[in-house]
Amino acid sequence: MEKNKIIKLIIAIVIIVVAVVLIGGFFGDDIMYHLKNRGNLGPLTREDITFDTSIPYVSSSMHANSENSYITDYLEQDPYLVNIYEGFGFAKEYGSARGHEYTLEDVAATARPHALANCLTCKTPDYTKLVNDLGVSAYTLDFNEVYATMSKNISCYECHETKSRNGGEIVITHSYVAKALGDNMSTIDSSTLSCGQCHIEYYFTPTDKETMMPYSSVATMTPEAILEYYDSMVMPDGSTGFYDWIQPSTGAKLLKAQHPEMETYLQGKHANLLNCADCHMAIEMADDGTVYHSHYLESPLESKTILSTCVKCHGDTDMVAMVKRIQDRITDRETEVGNKLSNLKNALAAAVAGGKMSEADLDLVRKLYREAQWFFDFCYVENSEGAHNSELSAHCLEVSELRIDEAMALLN
Ligand code: HEC
Ligand code: HEC
Ligand code: HEC
Ligand code: HEC
Repeated sequence: MEKNKIIKLIIAIVIIVVAVVLIGGFFGDDIMYHLKNRGNLGPLTREDITFDTSIPYVSSSMHANSENSYITDYLEQDPYLVNIYEGFGFAKEYGSARGHEYTLEDVAATARPHALANCLTCKTPDYTKLVNDLGVSAYTLDFNEVYATMSKNISCYECHETKSRNGGEIVITHSYVAKALGDNMSTIDSSTLSCGQCHIEYYFTPTDKETMMPYSSVATMTPEAILEYYDSMVMPDGSTGFYDWIQPSTGAKLLKAQHPEMETYLQGKHANLLNCADCHMAIEMADDGTVYHSHYLESPLESKTILSTCVKCHGDTDMVAMVKRIQDRITDRETEVGNKLSNLKNALAAAVAGGKMSEADLDLVRKLYREAQWFFDFCYVENSEGAHNSELSAHCLEVSELRIDEAMALLN
């Protein structure tokens, strides 16, 4: 090769390397990137950003959660649910969640029965404070009596205790988080854990009716490990196996999953890269230059500010389309598996009524049905519809379908 060509080649390589370094540096800091794109900040780095601790913007953004007021009726949207939840409150009413400003109103309005005050665990800081003052005995107080004394929807205390003026330090106020996780609490980012006080799978302990998480570490937050936890729990009557309700027509002891957002997310691709706030709390700048975390908790797909932070890792991918594709795939499968589950329930109920199968054989089917319901529910009730962790959501539906097929084979 002539000397000229070699020199040209070297120059070309140098140009490429410099370009890569420059572009890398530019996109290197997500906050930098999206603040720059908002156009009105100088050359800031993450260290230069001083978050406002004077509260007004934070506070008004939190009250904006009232804008999220729409409720989807899941029972109308997916009628098979009424059948599979037969005998449990969710067959009467099951609507989508809405903003944090509606918690007290919604917990009172629900048609699902709530005898005890433990239903208030994730609804109001007044109750969190009561539990912290009284201890476990607060969980068995009468719902209506306690409710009458509660006045605030989710507020600063839940995530900052009395430290919101102390730079916004996160304080985990829900005592069961420390009780369940112990030292493993420190393995979870504190912003994520602040949401994980409520956006999780939980149960009420059989004796004290205490709110509790069914695991002790991130590794035991899988649907398999949680099922194992419930299956091996010793109940007050000496029997083994926790259940939320016994279904009248099938006699099955069933589990109702709650909203396992944190568990699902922590097993997913972003677990060690981002926290809940990164995707649900936009970093905003007010006209006077104050920079703060918006406490309006929104879908990242509806916020230009949050969407612009995805660029750092996802480049120019159309994130809205990408997420919708995942969600469509997962919700289609949910409908498919949910209907199969409903058919299994009918077949099992018919077998029970028919009286031809032995109790032992029926129990084998009931166990498979319990597992199928658990895995289906773990996916269905998670509020991101696959966006937090599409592999786990798909896996849950897969396992559910396998159990359904096994149970159907036993019935036929
Ligand atoms: C649901 C949990 C939650 C509630 C409720 C909440 N915060 Fe925050 N707050 C957070 C999180 C998460 C952050 C971001 C912390 C981080 O990532 O460093 C934060 C940050 C802050 C900061 C630091 C400055 C900033 O903007 O990042 C202040 C100050 C603050 N919050 C005040 C309040 C006040 C005042 C209230 C009540 C009006 C409140 N917070 C309610 C979770 C909450
Ligand atoms: C004290 C319990 C609690 C904490 C802490 C909490 N949430 Fe919530 N969250 C709820 C409840 C309860 C609802 C449903 C309210 C309703 O429908 O009345 C909800 C609803 C939401 C919704 C609206 C859901 C929808 O479908 O429209 C979002 C988004 C949300 N939370 C995100 C977060 C994030 C992010 C955090 C952490 C910064 C957080 N939450 C911390 C209890 C909590
Ligand atoms: C990588 C970004 C990302 C992270 C991190 C993340 N989420 Fe989400 N979350 C999403 C997306 C995307 C959706 C689907 C939004 C939609 O359908 O409009 C979603 C949906 C939700 C919803 C349903 C409400 C709604 O607006 O649809 C809740 C509640 C929620 N997330 C809570 C959490 C919690 C709690 C954490 C932390 C444990 C978390 N998210 C972490 C991206 C994220
Ligand atoms: C710090 C880097 C980083 C940022 C920022 C980031 N992501 Fe991701 N995201 C990833 C990685 C890594 C994957 C896994 C890619 C793979 O496996 O192909 C991923 C995958 C995803 C997936 C597919 C998840 C699944 O389980 O199928 C979705 C949805 C997603 N990201 C949404 C978002 C959204 C929305 C934002 C912005 C709000 C965002 N991400 C910001 C790194 C990031």
